[in-house]
Amino acid sequence: MAKKLSSQNRNSVRIKINGNWREFSLGTDSSCEINPTMTLSYFLREKLGFTGLKVACNEGACGACTILMDGKTVLSCMMLAVQAEGHEVVTIEGLEKNDPVVEAFAQQCAPGYGTALQCGLCTPGFVMSAKALLKENPRPNIGEVKEALSGHICRCGCYSGVAQAVMHAGEKIANKGECHE
Ligand code: FES
Ligand code: FES
Repeated sequence: MAKKLSSQNRNSVRIKINGNWREFSLGTDSSCEINPTMTLSYFLREKLGFTGLKVACNEGACGACTILMDGKTVLSCMMLAVQAEGHEVVTIEGLEKNDPVVEAFAQQCAPGYGTALQCGLCTPGFVMSAKALLKENPRPNIGEVKEALSGHICRCGCYSGVAQAVMHAGEKIANKGECHE
């Protein structure tokens, strides 16, 4: 997925983040915005302030840090920031305020299924994976939802509510006749 940095531009990294192309200085000096060993999750959270992105395990095992890169899910704790060069990155802050997936997670509350979130630590990652799923498959069945979200851990155990929320989000999108980015 990563692109090689062009030789004339190796001291900077261009990334489209939540709709805007931005250019960052790259180097080992502390004044540089991106260090070659900096993870993408660290860069987005700690350097740019996109704290909706959560880091839990920081080793690729829980899905909390999931974001979209060129429309596909990636674990941002397992990528270097420099690997985002030339790519489009979307964090949960990049979604519309009335995003149907976010709404479905917030509204989920059903006997037998419960809510889609308690502490919320896992929620942004689940939401981003649900976005990618519903873009590819707007009306998934429950098995497809569970399969798509299987890489995520919810320490509060909201799995049933999460799956129902994604099903409801698919219905919302179908009823609107559109698929939000
Ligand atoms: S924080 Fe990245 S997978 Fe857990
Ligand atoms: S809602 Fe707490 S970890 Fe999932």
